[in-house]
Amino acid sequence: MKFTQKPWAEPFKIKVVEPLKVTTREYREQAMKEAGYNTFLLHSADVYIDLLTDSGTNAMSDNQWAGMMLGDEAYAGSKNYYYLESNVQKYYGYKYLVPTHQGRGAENLLSQCLIKKGQYVPGNMYFTTTRLHQELAGGTFVDVIIDEAHDPQAEHPFKGNVDLNKFEDLIKKVGSENVAYITVGATVNMAGGQPVSMANIKAVNELAHKHGIKVVLDATRAMENAYYIQQREEGYQNKTVAEILKEFASYSDAATMSGKKDLIVNIGGFVAVNDWDLFEELRNMVVVYEGLHTYGGISGRDMEAMARGMEEAVQDDYMAYRIKQVAYLGEKLDAYGVPMVKPFGGHAIFLDARRFYDHIPQTQYPAQALAADLYVDSGVRGMERGIVSAGRNKETGEEYMPKLELVRLTIPRRVYTQSHLDVVAYSVAELYEHRHKTKGLRMAYEPKYLRFFQARFERL
Ligand code: F0G
Repeated sequence: MKFTQKPWAEPFKIKVVEPLKVTTREYREQAMKEAGYNTFLLHSADVYIDLLTDSGTNAMSDNQWAGMMLGDEAYAGSKNYYYLESNVQKYYGYKYLVPTHQGRGAENLLSQCLIKKGQYVPGNMYFTTTRLHQELAGGTFVDVIIDEAHDPQAEHPFKGNVDLNKFEDLIKKVGSENVAYITVGATVNMAGGQPVSMANIKAVNELAHKHGIKVVLDATRAMENAYYIQQREEGYQNKTVAEILKEFASYSDAATMSGKKDLIVNIGGFVAVNDWDLFEELRNMVVVYEGLHTYGGISGRDMEAMARGMEEAVQDDYMAYRIKQVAYLGEKLDAYGVPMVKPFGGHAIFLDARRFYDHIPQTQYPAQALAADLYVDSGVRGMERGIVSAGRNKETGEEYMPKLELVRLTIPRRVYTQSHLDVVAYSVAELYEHRHKTKGLRMAYEPKYLRFFQARFERL
């Protein structure tokens, strides 16, 4: 037999293992029912392969764990803070750093500092926590992503790009003084982990600055974004991920960061800016909500792990493994004809529940049902990214009906092997084959904020 492709393997070996529980189908049926058909409400001990999120679920290296022992837990001026600050300057290029407990802590501070009541905040598709903090600060989010991003089948290499016409139209309509700033998320989580091109962020920067508007980068997965630029954008093939990241960030004025993704840690985040006055304000605000400005709600050891994770994540070999592992799952599923968002994204494979369960209307939560069915079938936990995640319009109270009705199979970093992904692919393919057997759901309990985390459902 001949190999069709040169095999690849994980660029690390396993030093510590965490045993997994294998359960029966009956057990999982009961567990899913008790969790109100919401995978967020399952006990993780009942999950076999956990693809709920890539957030904080990563495996740290021996080097990061060694760094944990070097935590300087002084209340003020921890040396780990200064090390993290120097790495943020080195890899992202921002001048000033305010650590936070995670990404939404950074979003809260920045939204409160930059948004005046009644202002608009354009962005390349919403993210749940980002939009909520903008709204809580009195702003209104406006989606200015290219149309292709809302179409799971549109094969665009940079599906996360900002539509410059939509952005310019907004400025014309409301006036630049009513635009608080523009957020560029890279990659775009809700669009399926889709990247933004260098040319696009550069153009966004030019247009925004022409009107005196700041560009805020959601840098949560910007290193993964940099890898796509290296692979897909003319002129970047011979640049390193690190070089590309730094250029990319240079087209923004500030960044919010969830270190729980790109930076391969379990907790931590930051907001980084170039403007001294804004830094002063953020530094003032962080003591109210997070902690002193040299620890921002995390410990010294967490800052050390994040600084070291930054150095590891930006390596080309690591990043090639990271993105290719996600694509490996996508290609397996493609062979079975499973409908997915294409091209495959950086952190997850997104099943297109609208086409997968084409007999279930969106108001009966097809993606929520599919995530529940997958858990029952094989103990694999994914999450809904569709109508439940989208929530309600804050003015009219009506449910948003997003075009994308997806189940996200998110791959934690350095945690699962290719064999785990084979098990996932097998289960999804089985469900697809018997897809018309399942029924939709009705929502039995709806929380007020970010309802997808705690909502409960019943089978129709
Ligand atoms: N921005 C993006 C693009 C994110 O994906 C997340 C978190 C945040 C901001 C908020 O960061 O969780 O550290 O407060 N995404 C997680 C996920 C929750 O599962 O996609 P956080």
